[in-house]
Amino acid sequence: MITMPKGTKDVLPENSYKWQFLESAARETARLFNAKEIRTPVFEHTEVFARGVGETTDIVNKEMYTFTDKGGRSITLKPEGTAGVVRSFVENGLYAGALPVKTFYITPCFRYERPQAGRLREFHQFGVEVFGATDAGIDAEIILLAKTFLSKIGVKNITLYINSIGCKECRKEYHKALKAYLSARYDELCDLCKDRYEKNPMRILDCKNEDCKAIAENAPSILDYLCDDCKAHFIKLQSLLKTAGVEYKINPRIVRGLDYYTKTVFEFVSENIGAQGTVLGGGRYDGLVEEFGGGKISGIGFAAGLERLLLLLDSAGSIPANDSLDLYVAPMGEDARLKAFEIVSALRNSGISADTDYVGRGIKAQFKYADKIGAKFVGVLGSDELARNIIKIKEMASGTETEVDLNAVAEFFK
Ligand code: HAM
Repeated sequence: MITMPKGTKDVLPENSYKWQFLESAARETARLFNAKEIRTPVFEHTEVFARGVGETTDIVNKEMYTFTDKGGRSITLKPEGTAGVVRSFVENGLYAGALPVKTFYITPCFRYERPQAGRLREFHQFGVEVFGATDAGIDAEIILLAKTFLSKIGVKNITLYINSIGCKECRKEYHKALKAYLSARYDELCDLCKDRYEKNPMRILDCKNEDCKAIAENAPSILDYLCDDCKAHFIKLQSLLKTAGVEYKINPRIVRGLDYYTKTVFEFVSENIGAQGTVLGGGRYDGLVEEFGGGKISGIGFAAGLERLLLLLDSAGSIPANDSLDLYVAPMGEDARLKAFEIVSALRNSGISADTDYVGRGIKAQFKYADKIGAKFVGVLGSDELARNIIKIKEMASGTETEVDLNAVAEFFK
């Protein structure tokens, strides 16, 4: 037997309705907030992510699916959605049109990580990216969009953490203070953090190593180093969230694992699904469009991991049940079979879902099958029914049986 690669998952027919549920809630939420779908390729030139996500990140250093194609180009499967959307925004000149531009996407992503519950090598994101708005109002709106989506799909007991990691300017001072603090305990840091100490010391605050976590505990807070502009932005965001009735906690340790963030960063975290509890994360990235050659245009967005949301919703059992078949026509004999074919075709044309027997089951076995596939109604069609031009339609839940004229089956369902 050929098996699937480690860290991937099939979505089987009996479970696909859960995905459709999440995806339609994502699309509906995006519509409410006036975000339009953008679809970018599953693979890009490696440079898009190396530059976009950042050379010092775990994603770029260790986790990318990178290969050389037959033309000798370095290609990478997208590890996240933002960099490709920014590349597309710039390449297609969308910055020259009416701003802000609000986009959303639902996409597979690929990271070579150690698989565990809620962490896969192929996973899916619902993401939103907005370009061309600098005001903290859009930060609040993006967080509100994320919250609306989570509420719509029935996520409960989730905590919103927010932070500001400032701009390039205020981060200079902060890096100095942080490095001064860390230098005394440099030897206790893990190897990765020793490397981060030089390249990107803030990422040490995010390390999962217990020793590094303990050291990070008393590190200076970025919030004490924000410049006036970044401080005012963060205060305005909080006041807008309060006005909108959005509860949040400030967590100065949130720095996020990608290099492009500036000012606002945020995460929605659940305590109910184990170690991989961050179901949604995002923030502002004011320098990224410029990095791709698109001028000084700000950006902000988030992405939610659909597998993690499914873990959460599955454990709560809150996804509405599958949309079941309206009518299963159970024919007896060849003439009835031909008629059944005709009936199901006509019903489908009227928007009623219908199915019938193609494997020659007896009537009892057909009822059993109809029950198994969750048909709401079963229509019995034998020689007697054909002679009288009727079909006996039984409602499976109640057992109620109704004789319906063969010319009026569609009406019965209206
Ligand atoms: P991220 O925090 O790397 O951010 O990923 C966003 C979400 O994707 C995570 O919160 C998690 O739910 C899900 N996720 C990440 N890695 C995995 C994995 N290996 N298996 C399952 N789920 C995973 C970004 O990707 C940014 N692009 C978000 C963003 C958009 N920021 C601004 N705009």
